[in-house]
Amino acid sequence: MPKEKKPKAKKQFELKSPRGVHDIMGEEYFSYQGFFEKAEEIALYYGFQPIETPILEQEELFTRSVGEFSDIAQKEMYTLRTRGGDKLALRPEGTAPIIRAYAEHGMHTRPQPVLLYYRGPFFRHDKPQRGRFREFRQFGVEAIGSDKSIVDALIIRLFLAILEEVGITNLTVDVNSLGDKECRTEYKKALVAYFRKHTGKLNTEGKALLKNNPLRLLDSKDPVICELKDEAPETMEFLQGPSKQHFKEVLEYLDSMDVNYRINGNLVRGLDYYSRTVFEIVETQEDAENENDSDEKEGEKKKEKKEEQPRALELGGGGRYDLLGKMLGTRRPLPAVGGALGVDRILMHEKVKKLDPRIIKKPKVFFIQLGFDAKLKSLPLIDNLRHAKIPIQQSLSKDKLSVQLASVEKLGVPWVIILGEKEVIDGTVMVRDMHDRSQKTVKQEELVTYLKKHIARA
Ligand code: HAM
Repeated sequence: MPKEKKPKAKKQFELKSPRGVHDIMGEEYFSYQGFFEKAEEIALYYGFQPIETPILEQEELFTRSVGEFSDIAQKEMYTLRTRGGDKLALRPEGTAPIIRAYAEHGMHTRPQPVLLYYRGPFFRHDKPQRGRFREFRQFGVEAIGSDKSIVDALIIRLFLAILEEVGITNLTVDVNSLGDKECRTEYKKALVAYFRKHTGKLNTEGKALLKNNPLRLLDSKDPVICELKDEAPETMEFLQGPSKQHFKEVLEYLDSMDVNYRINGNLVRGLDYYSRTVFEIVETQEDAENENDSDEKEGEKKKEKKEEQPRALELGGGGRYDLLGKMLGTRRPLPAVGGALGVDRILMHEKVKKLDPRIIKKPKVFFIQLGFDAKLKSLPLIDNLRHAKIPIQQSLSKDKLSVQLASVEKLGVPWVIILGEKEVIDGTVMVRDMHDRSQKTVKQEELVTYLKKHIARA
């Protein structure tokens, strides 16, 4: 008799967020808000204006721009088909949507370059690990409509300013230039010729990259490819005429601003739309900094330490993408440059300062109410205080004096307002100065004036 197939046990539903995404609340929420406020303040200072594009875009916007064979297009994009049959994607990055918005709203008629900044969540279906999430937040800037090298330098400076202001100061900028279309074509040819000589050593993934997207070989973490990379041709050898001059100028600007940068000839970045300048911002690793002045033994020790130590996370990156407009179908070429900071990674950094957003006001007054009649009068009184911009704390759901006073002690609030049954009848409140525990009865209609006069010295 054939064995009866056991029905598969239904997986129990768990009240849990999906892997790689998480809730943000409490102090963490305020840190994000504080960070974005700081970043926006600096971006506005440099002349950038805000834009918010939708989280859903047409899938093709990204397959056309990040490159068909990029990791994003191949495996990291969250895509969906609507009932009407449209193919949409949760945005994996912000640059292509900005160019879409630029074209859609005819921004070429505005004074150029158009300087825009944006903030918000992005989605990539990658393996979650330290500093890598499936939903993550970026703060990005894009300067569209200028090919001037000073704009590339400005964006790097702006990002460093934001990072420094939030407390991360030991930073290195990795820079490279991929050159223009012609330089890139020549470079690709040389790279393919080099790796072809070593095809025997490449695994299947490496061979596929060599065939479809050879530049991505330089991003590979595969140890064999990493070793081969050291001897591979570098983009810089292929820079010609205007591209060479452009990169030289970018470096001169960085020098003039004392930016701690290093030229990394293997830096290509994972998105296909880059040309000329590319950059990444990482925390300076002490070992790399001191490598030159260490003797051999020390060098060995440092090498071991370096291997133990996790690779510095890239806090932000970007570059020039003069060819993206055309890739997306704009009629005219659209020189542009931009970058994005990885906000989750930045806020995980141990050196980040406590970033209180502006809406958080430290209250100097605690409001205590006793009895139902006092509760009834509390809300209108608190409303008056809010209109007068006097921040307070309260625990309206609590009844006992001792419980409410315990909160006062815990928070260290210097002033307390007490509204009891007697005060309700008299139309007054009791104001207690917590420094010397002195108390004063104040008429309800004079409370705002009294507090304004007295809390200023608290
Ligand atoms: P990206 O290098 O892919 O560039 O991302 C920018 C930053 O976002 C990274 O440096 C990293 O800090 C952060 N990031 C990326 N993926 C994740 C993740 N899975 N989890 C946490 N953080 C992550 C872009 O997205 C380009 N659109 C930047 C750009 C703007 N280029 C020109 N303009």
